[in-house]
This record gives sequence, C-alpha cells and structure tokens, in this order.
Amino acid sequence: MLPPGLTVHSSVTDADWRQMRDLLALVGMGHYAPELHQRAFENSFAVVFLREATRLVAMGRAISDGAYQAGLYDIAVHPHFQGRGLGRFVLRSLLSQLEGMNVILYASPGVEPFYEKEGFRGMRTGMIRSLSPEKMYARGFID
Ligand SMILES: CC(C)(COP(=O)(O)OP(=O)(O)OC[C@H]1O[C@@H](n2cnc3c(N)ncnc32)[C@H](O)[C@@H]1OP(=O)(O)O)[C@@H](O)C(=O)NCCC(=O)NCCS
Repeated sequence: MLPPGLTVHSSVTDADWRQMRDLLALVGMGHYAPELHQRAFENSFAVVFLREATRLVAMGRAISDGAYQAGLYDIAVHPHFQGRGLGRFVLRSLLSQLEGMNVILYASPGVEPFYEKEGFRGMRTGMIRSLSPEKMYARGFID
C-alpha cells in the first residue's frame, strides 16, 4: 500500500528528467545530465516513478533482454520519504514485470539488507568494467 497522495507511474510519459537527476544527486547516487537519464529510462525495459503531485519522490528502472536476464538500476527514494515502504514498492513493481528472469543489481554499500529481504543474494563473481573505477573504489563498491 502506498501512503495517500502518492501516484504510481510505469511509463516515461511526463517524466521530469531534471528532478530525476536532482533526486539521484541528493541520495548520493551516480547522476548525469538530464538528457542522459532520459535516454536511459526511455531505453529501459521497465520504469517506475512515484510522485506526490508533480514532485518525484521515488524511482527505479530495469533493463532486460525480455527473456531471462534483467538488471535493476537507479532505485532511489527521496530522504523525506524513506523508511515508509516506498523503496520496497518500487522494487516489487519492477520485479513483477520481470517474472521468470534472473535479476542482478549492485547495491550501494550498506543497502544489501534492503535487497536481501526481497530474495537477492550476494554474488561471488560479480564484476564491473566501470567508467569511474576510482570513484567506485572510494565508495566501497569494488576492490
Ligand atoms: C535504499 C532505499 C531505496 C530504500 O528505500 P526505503 O523506502 O527507505 O525502504 P523501505 O521503507 O521500503 O524498506 C523496506 C525494508 O528494507 C529495509 N531497509 C531499507 N533501507 C535499508 C538499508 N539502507 N539498510 C538496511 N535495511 C534497509 C527496511 O528496514 C525495511 O525492512 P522491514 O520491512 O523489515 O522493516 C532508500 O533508502 C534510498 O533511496 N537510499 C539512498 C539511495 C540508495 O542507496 N539506493 C539504492 C541503490 S542500490
């Protein structure tokens, strides 16, 4: 159940790319020019936004081959709305569109329990060829 006053959006119609960039920046996640987020979300397999009126309060997206592999990205909840089940709502909304698929993601360090509650397990051989390995190292994502 969503708190009253929030609406769910499962398409990029009316998405506000600037607010998206600002939300990712606010929670300390990777963020880019709004146009790049637009391209990423428009090319994604599934998207979910939660809004309070026109204000973006939570978001997430999945990429996929549409058959058996998928990955989750850009899952974020505005700090004022965290701890009220919105992250779980976004995660479950995306997973419901990925039935029958393996789903991977990389969690921000410390956030692993949030995903473990929905059935995710740590990977022993996960690897990334990152655009910014130094930043990822500094933030504890990679060795
Ligand atoms: C991580 C995040 C998406 C969780 O969203 P949220 O709305 O605050 O979480 P929810 O209220 O839906 O929590 C669902 C469950 O996960 C747990 N949980 C949420 N965040 C957690 C965290 N950082 N560490 C451990 N457990 C966490 C909650 O306690 C809750 O468990 P419960 O049902 O047993 O009480 C949100 O805090 C966020 O945007 N954080 C900053 C950005 C970020 O790190 N995103 C993830 C990138 S991988």
